[in-house]
Amino acid sequence: MTLAELEAFGEALGRAAAEALPCTITLAGDLGAGKTTLTRAIGRGLGVDEAVTSPTFALVHEYHGRASRRLMHCDLYRINDPAELANVGWEALFEEPALVIIEWPDRAGHLVPDDALAISLYHIADDESRRRVRW
Ligand SMILES: Nc1ncnc2c1ncn2[C@@H]1O[C@H](COP(=O)(O)OP(=O)(O)OP(=O)(O)O)[C@@H](O)[C@H]1O
Ligand SMILES: [Mg+2]
Repeated sequence: MTLAELEAFGEALGRAAAEALPCTITLAGDLGAGKTTLTRAIGRGLGVDEAVTSPTFALVHEYHGRASRRLMHCDLYRINDPAELANVGWEALFEEPALVIIEWPDRAGHLVPDDALAISLYHIADDESRRRVRW
């Protein structure tokens, strides 16, 4: 997908998720694959007007959208062991009527909900302008 295609896909997904809350989406993929870019587009579809940034230091960023919709954006890059999630209210995240998006879901191991929609983004050799998207 081109950047424009990825953004259109994300916005459509966010609009659909708005009708299916609570909902969890995992975004796997290497550094720079487009996980935060896709999160931002999903947020727009959900009705979040705030700018979604890269939550490098905070594990979870919460955004408020229109019609009291909420997006919880988790970036687990810095997690070394799923046990580290025990102290951050991880389980409670999934009890909210919110959309939870998880970057680097592998870091959470078995703590990722079984019913999460799993999306993977891949770089394409010799084409920095497109990504392969699988789910
Ligand atoms: N087709 C494309 N899809 C997604 N991103 C693209 C595409 N083409 C170019 N890009 C660019 O690639 C970069 C992706 O960065 P982004 O922060 O979204 O990646 P990330 O997967 O979240 O990385 P990190 O693991 O560091 O959090 C952005 O600068 C984006 O504009
Ligand atoms: Mg990111």
